[in-house]
Amino acid sequence: MNPNIDEIKQQLEQLKKDFLDDIKQKKEDNFVEKIRVKYLGRKGELSSFFGLMGKIAPENRPELGQELNKLKTFFQDEIQKLSQSEALRPQKVDFFDTSLPGIPVDFGTQHPLYQVLDEIKSIFVSLGFTIETGPELETDYYNFEALNIPKDHPSRDLQDTLYIKDDLLLRTHTSPVQIRTMEKTSPPIRMIAPGKCFRKDAIDATHFPVFHQVEGLCVDEGITFSDLKGVIEAFAKRMFGEDVKIRFRPSFFPFTEPSAEYDFSCVKCNGKGCNICKGTGWLEISGAGMVDPVVFKYVNIDPEKYSGFAFGMGVERIAMLKYQINDIRDFYENDLRFLTQF
Ligand code: PHE
Repeated sequence: MNPNIDEIKQQLEQLKKDFLDDIKQKKEDNFVEKIRVKYLGRKGELSSFFGLMGKIAPENRPELGQELNKLKTFFQDEIQKLSQSEALRPQKVDFFDTSLPGIPVDFGTQHPLYQVLDEIKSIFVSLGFTIETGPELETDYYNFEALNIPKDHPSRDLQDTLYIKDDLLLRTHTSPVQIRTMEKTSPPIRMIAPGKCFRKDAIDATHFPVFHQVEGLCVDEGITFSDLKGVIEAFAKRMFGEDVKIRFRPSFFPFTEPSAEYDFSCVKCNGKGCNICKGTGWLEISGAGMVDPVVFKYVNIDPEKYSGFAFGMGVERIAMLKYQINDIRDFYENDLRFLTQF
């Protein structure tokens, strides 16, 4: 039996519906081309209907021809629209361009202060010193009293010390670790104590309320001021080179007797005088001296039998000299342009 024109027209109706459904689907790659092949291709949906032309009653042929051409034009127009909108869609790039530069990974570096601190520590460790630590939150006893700093001493002034409460304060120096170490160890003692200190200082190019010190203490029989000088000199040469000179000036600390302040010859101008040493040729490092017998009494060490020396060292100061940094605030601002130079 020959195909019926009405049935064919119904099928064409259905084909148009399918087409409209199809083009609403989620767009995959090559979507437009796939639709074109499915509906307009040589073996596509529409071409099979053209094949029916010869099989239907001749009087129906012009009508079917018209219907088929109408649908074909409709498909062509829709596909044309689709391909235009697809051309505007960003294309997915599915290849890997090996010539593109990689995304750089930033590495952290150790803070310059702690690089210097590590260097100081390793120099003293190689000289036979142990490393001790103590709390940053100290009692009045360790920070002052046992160090023979009397109640009316100016460094107890509220201007300098940051108090938490009456008997609790942020340590103003690392010297309390001397007391803590002598309490728990009997001589011979050879120790350094690196750490943070706090003072109520106004901030400027050379002062910051937080800073670092390295305390040094050596207690044994027959320790003299010459031992102190020898250790400081050995340290200076290891840190700044063989040419550096040291000098001691008389000074006063309640916990050392005699007391001194010590300087290194300027590492920039070699003692000739420049802007770093303010024309003097010398750079102040910190204080030192022979442990006061009064301090030994607080920790039950016999001052008749033992003697000792102690020294302090400002880590910021040494780092500033080593790297010729003019402003202490650079250490604490965490500006990457500064930090990544080290
Ligand atoms: N603690 C002193 C200060 O902070 C330095 C010092 C340490 C002096 C040890 C003598 C002996 O200034």
